Amino acid sequence: MNFISSDDLSEKQVLEVFSIADKLQSGELKNPIKEHSVLALLFSEPSTRTRVSFEVAMAQLGGSAVYIATQTSQMKRGETLEDTAKVISGYCDFIAVRTNEHKDVMTIAKSSTVPVINALTHLEHPTQALADVYTIIKHNKRIKGLKIAFVGDIAQNTASSLMLTATKLGASVSLVGPEGITPNEFFYRKSKKYGKVELYNSIKEGVTGADVIYTDTFVSMGDEAEADRRKKLFEPYQVNKAMLQFAKSDAIVMHPLPAHRGEEITSDVLDGKQSVVWDQAKSKLYIEKALLVYLSEN
Ligand code: CP
Repeated sequence: MNFISSDDLSEKQVLEVFSIADKLQSGELKNPIKEHSVLALLFSEPSTRTRVSFEVAMAQLGGSAVYIATQTSQMKRGETLEDTAKVISGYCDFIAVRTNEHKDVMTIAKSSTVPVINALTHLEHPTQALADVYTIIKHNKRIKGLKIAFVGDIAQNTASSLMLTATKLGASVSLVGPEGITPNEFFYRKSKKYGKVELYNSIKEGVTGADVIYTDTFVSMGDEAEADRRKKLFEPYQVNKAMLQFAKSDAIVMHPLPAHRGEEITSDVLDGKQSVVWDQAKSKLYIEKALLVYLSEN
């Protein structure tokens, strides 16, 4: 089984992954993967959290990870994705792929004989969404019935994956962004089948009553050429103290990181008492371990 889209796991399967994460942390589950398992991290885009947490996850599970920057592999000289996937899956037990092009992960998955994990593409960031929802449950003791306000660039990958995973587990999602910026149509429609998703230009309307305020960079990987225009466009949607007034008084603030302090979020909010971003980053480790265990069994 692969994990390429947030839609690859049902609600029951997501809850199973969360249960494995809990059992790994409590010590109830020991030595859950084949000894000396190896994860290949095939990355063509930069990463701090996803790379390090997957490497640590494998070390803590008793296996190891091999980091392959595609620019330093024979892919740079034209070796195909298909041939690369066949070779790497002959050596390794899992492949995690970070690439801008979503279709490249699909191509790798078709030729791989081992589970393939999407570690971020321009369309989705499904492991992040699992860690996000896991973090929300840890802080709120539930996910069903909560209101998550995703503020800023509602068209990007983290928004799409979070919207899919959160609605599937019973949360409602407010997508709050400037006029002219719309969510990915495919993921928006899918999420609306699972639960309530609403679009807002008004911060007040979109954030009022929120249990979670979530933001991410205004300039995603691949958008760098448009950085100045995008920063201006999204500027009114900065998560700051004024915005928090509209949310519930105990609302939590989330960001997948890296944060651009003073752009999508102010430092006082990022470092403030409502912020759970450091726990959120830690959740990636717990969730990735659990996901590796789950994929090795299914
Ligand atoms: N949140 C996230 O994916 O961080 P990295 O880009 O550092 O992996």
